[in-house]
Order: sequence, then C-alpha cells, then structure tokens
Amino acid sequence: MKVTVTGGCGFIGSAVVRHLMNRTDHQVLNIDCMTYAASEETLAAVASDPRYRHARISINDQAAVEEALEEFQPDAIMHLAAESHVDRSIDGPDAFIQTNIVGTYCLLDVARRYWLGLEGEKKEGFRFLHISTDEVFGHLSPEDPPFTEETAYDPRSPYSASKAASDHLVRAWYHTYGFPAFVTNTTNNYGPWHFPEKLIPLMIINALEGKPLPVYGKGENLRDWLFVEDHAAALVRAVECGKPGATYAIGARQPRSNLEVVRKICSLLDELEPDSAGPRERLITFVSDRPGHDFRYEIDPSHAERSLDWRAEHDFEAGLRKTVQWYLENRSWWQNLRNQRYDGRRLGVKA
Ligand code: DAU
Repeated sequence: MKVTVTGGCGFIGSAVVRHLMNRTDHQVLNIDCMTYAASEETLAAVASDPRYRHARISINDQAAVEEALEEFQPDAIMHLAAESHVDRSIDGPDAFIQTNIVGTYCLLDVARRYWLGLEGEKKEGFRFLHISTDEVFGHLSPEDPPFTEETAYDPRSPYSASKAASDHLVRAWYHTYGFPAFVTNTTNNYGPWHFPEKLIPLMIINALEGKPLPVYGKGENLRDWLFVEDHAAALVRAVECGKPGATYAIGARQPRSNLEVVRKICSLLDELEPDSAGPRERLITFVSDRPGHDFRYEIDPSHAERSLDWRAEHDFEAGLRKTVQWYLENRSWWQNLRNQRYDGRRLGVKA
C-alpha cells in the first residue's frame, strides 16, 4: 500500500511514519512543511529507506500537493498535519484557522480530485483518514460517562473549534461527494519526540533543569493518557481496515489528574536521576488556570477496540517510565528546541 501522511515530522505523525516503515511493507510519502513543532530527527532512522520520501510542502498549497499526489499515486491519505497546542490557540487563533480548517479544506479538495481520477480497484480501495481529537466533544464533569462516537460536538477552545470544523468538513465530503473518508478522535498522547510545550515533556524538562513545574489551577483536571506508539498502531489498523463514513474514538482507559501525572514524573526522575537538592515535588508550583480550561476528557474506546482489533498496550505507568527514560537519553534534541524554538515560558494566559 502507498500511504501519504500529512504532518509526518510531528509528534503523532512521526510515530505513524515509523510504524509504517518499521512494521509494515507500505511506502510512505510524508507531506510536511516543517512548522516550529516539526522535527526531521524524528524520522532520521527511516529517512534513507527507499520506501520513504518527504515533500516539504504545505497542505494549503493545492498545486504542490496535487503534483505530489499525482506522482506518488497513494492508496490512502492519513491527515495529521495540524496546529495542536491549546495554549497557543488562545494567544493566536489565526494559524489554527489557516492550517486546521483552510488546510483541511484544501487537502480534501485536492484529494477528491485525485480520487475521482482513479479507476477500478484503486478507486474502490482509496481511503482518507482524518486524525482528530476528543476535545471536539467539549469536556466532562466527574460523573459523566466517557465520550463515545455518539457524543455531540461542543468545542470550547479556538484549537478544538478548528478541529471540530475540520471534522465536519471531512464528513461533509463523505456524505456529499461519496468521498471515502473517515475520522478518528483521540485522547491525550504522550511519549518520545513530544514537543516540549505540552504538559508531560515540559514537566520532565523543567524538573531536570530544576525549574518550577507550573500546574494550572489545582491540578485536578483529568486526561486519558495514550502512549503515542499505541495510537500509531491504532491509526495504521484504521487506514488498513476502517470503513468510509465511520468514526473511531480511540482512548487508553488510563485517566489521571494533572497533579498525579506531575507527581509521577517527579518520582520517576528522583529514581532514575536523583537531584542532590532534594525530591522534585518541591518544584511543583500552582499557577493561574488556563482560560476556558476543559475539566476532563476521557474516551470509551470499546467500538474502536472491537472494530480495529486493537487495544492500547501500555498502561500509564509503563508508558511514562519509557517516556522519562527517552528524555533522559535524548537531551540534545530537546535542548536544541529549548534554545532555538521554545524556551518553556507560559503561553495562553490572555483571556
Ligand atoms: O485530548 C487530546 C488533546 O490533548 C490534543 O488534541 C491536543 O492537541 C493536545 O495538546 C492535548 O490537549 P491538552 O490541553 O489536554 O494538553 P496539554 O499538554 O496542553 O495540557 C494537559 C493538561 O495539563 C491540561 O489540563 C492543562 C495542563 N497543563 C498544561 C501545561 C502545558 C498544566 O497544568 N501546566 C502546563 O504547563
């Protein structure tokens, strides 16, 4: 199978490309224009494989994408290119509208034209998988049942509103044009190569550098944590056997409060690299809350587990240990990012 992956040098996209290269025979065309959150090192181990190629183009550049698709002749497109950080969407929604909404529209339009030009089995078998988030469902109170594929949309941040709009576009292309698209909505990912603006990598790095660990509000907000390699496995199953028009809600069944997550990071670091100044929990600092902070996300992944014959392999403690070890062993990657792209300062405080 020939698979075009958009955003393949990002955190989840690169896990998908590594999975495709290391665990399947598929060929990959990675369309990634290399924004601040993309990094070529994520794919250094597979980049010289003849089954892999990278086109440094934007999904908004329809002519360039069209040419790349015509040349590569994909059997499927996995669309992961997106602006994804909620705090950045509070400071500057524009990039989120341009990439997540306009970019998804541009890609859908080109992909549909490409698909219309296919014939026979190649046309029948073509798939467009749009990778989205559980944040489109809004947020849960402690008593609510987890999100499912049936949960109504209720996005509450510029980021989640832009992803919700893109999900609606994808479903409209399926219903209106018969375009063989489908959607996955997934909960919080974590693991190697996570850009250090997100909770887990930011806390690991700040703790290693002896800096404050800024917990928003009281740290009671809950997230369901999915190890990124488990997510990549689910997405590859989905592109191989998912049904046009379907939705798959992918989760790990591992809900944890933010404070619990930060405390676990502290204790893992204390075990793996003790700090002579004392236990890292001393660095935990409660700061003002994120504007419009969603309280809880959690997915019931039963439908996806059954339909895709998939289940997350890592529980949170096992995945977090691997993640912390990875950050300890890959300091030059994140030190360069801290020096050149994002120094860790608080984002998203504008209300
Ligand atoms: O649910 C899926 C979503 O998970 C994805 O769609 C998003 O792209 C991804 O960024 C993530 O969104 P969150 O807002 O949950 O992730 P973030 O890492 O920004 O924050 C996780 C929780 O930690 C959230 O409750 C806010 C809190 N937090 C975050 C940061 C960066 C802190 O308490 N302190 C921090 O410094």
